[in-house]
Amino acid sequence: MVPNDDTLFDKVVNLSKRRGFVFQSADIYGGFRSTYDYGPIGVLLLRNVKEQWWRTMVQLRHDVVGLDASILSPPAVWQASGHLANFTDPLVDCRDCGARHRLDKLDDPDTCPSCSKSGTFTEAREFNLMFKTHAGPMVESAAEVYLRPETAQGMFVNFANVLNTSRKKPPFGIAQIGKSFRNEITPGNFVFRTREFEQMEMEFFVPPDDSPEWYRHWCDARMAWYDDLGMPADKMRLREHEGDELSHYSTATADVEFLFPWGWDELEGIANRTDFDLNRHAEHSGTKLEYHDPASGDRYVPHVIEPAAGATRTAMAFLMAAYDEEEVNDDVRTVLRLDSRLAPYKVAILPLSKKPELIDPSNEVLGLLQPHWMCDYDQTQAIGRRYRRQDEIGTPFCVTIDFDTLDDRAVTVRERDSMAQERVAIDGLVAYLSERLPA
Ligand code: GAP
Repeated sequence: MVPNDDTLFDKVVNLSKRRGFVFQSADIYGGFRSTYDYGPIGVLLLRNVKEQWWRTMVQLRHDVVGLDASILSPPAVWQASGHLANFTDPLVDCRDCGARHRLDKLDDPDTCPSCSKSGTFTEAREFNLMFKTHAGPMVESAAEVYLRPETAQGMFVNFANVLNTSRKKPPFGIAQIGKSFRNEITPGNFVFRTREFEQMEMEFFVPPDDSPEWYRHWCDARMAWYDDLGMPADKMRLREHEGDELSHYSTATADVEFLFPWGWDELEGIANRTDFDLNRHAEHSGTKLEYHDPASGDRYVPHVIEPAAGATRTAMAFLMAAYDEEEVNDDVRTVLRLDSRLAPYKVAILPLSKKPELIDPSNEVLGLLQPHWMCDYDQTQAIGRRYRRQDEIGTPFCVTIDFDTLDDRAVTVRERDSMAQERVAIDGLVAYLSERLPA
């Protein structure tokens, strides 16, 4: 019984706060608007999303390498990329109520949605979304620097470094996961649009003639990634951009969209960026950014296919897709049906009671499982309530140590979705769980 869309959003936000997925940032000071901190459970979910992306995009491929570039960067980078001139949103203020809106996101560009008055907007101003700060102790003489608004430019700027050191040649990719910052005019929908967020981006450099084929490859591969991790097919779609929606340098772009409670919205963009970025950085830096094939003697500027996803936004989509409620014994059971690879904890170790004789074997089981998986340990409250607490955060397996354990050295393993229970010998527990918990 998946809750209807009107209540799903609130339920997921409440669960996130109540169980320690996501907290409002600077909560004890009244909260810092639109910034969030990932709590003990949320940090695990987010790490798992990023790890699954890295595993698919880097570990399981021979043609993609990783990078971790700096967040602070000089204006020259953003001049070349076009962000200084063009990374803007049109901003309007309502003269009546003072509310500020993004003009391109309004249903009616003449009516303020905050006070419903018409004809009250100021002229639109282009507002640059980059955060600017100063490097060095004296603001007057210090150099202006920017917090990166995307991780992508780190890959373009390091193209030659990676090419010269990694022994890769096109087609090959550079992947990066990291924080990006945008001074969004209208952040909102919980962690969907924030000013500080994490991206998972990959720039795939290909011979120019092969770029349409690689574009299709990455559209298919990225959709398959969400599908493999359990995203329901009816909540996912790939939406190709129409001609007038394309950036001037892109020959093809598609958005991977998820059906959020407020409608279809973007999780990831996949773009054929042609040779635009490498050419711009070559022009502005004076460094040649091209590939010279020693075998054929060919020299060319690779074209780039870019799958660019948001880690924080995608983690939220996985939460929304996994949230479920079902009736069990006249009670409502909340269960996060997360794929076990994304589940914050894989196993919870639950001694049936706090009696000292159960604590030693419980610690033994914990010590046995912790090197393999992220484990939770909980010894208070009735066992039924502890199962429900684990269901609510998506833990695939609970392992209960009871008084029979003292005689038979076996434990009860309960599976989250079916609630089926099985008696398993402690000595066979790692093998039993390994079969059921893929990497
Ligand atoms: N390098 C291309 C690029 O950055 P983008 O569509 O602006 O493209 C890629 O961003 C992804 O980053 C988006 O699909 C979204 O998932 C995530 N993202 C962008 N802005 C965000 C924000 N303000 N808050 C959370 N995620 C954001």
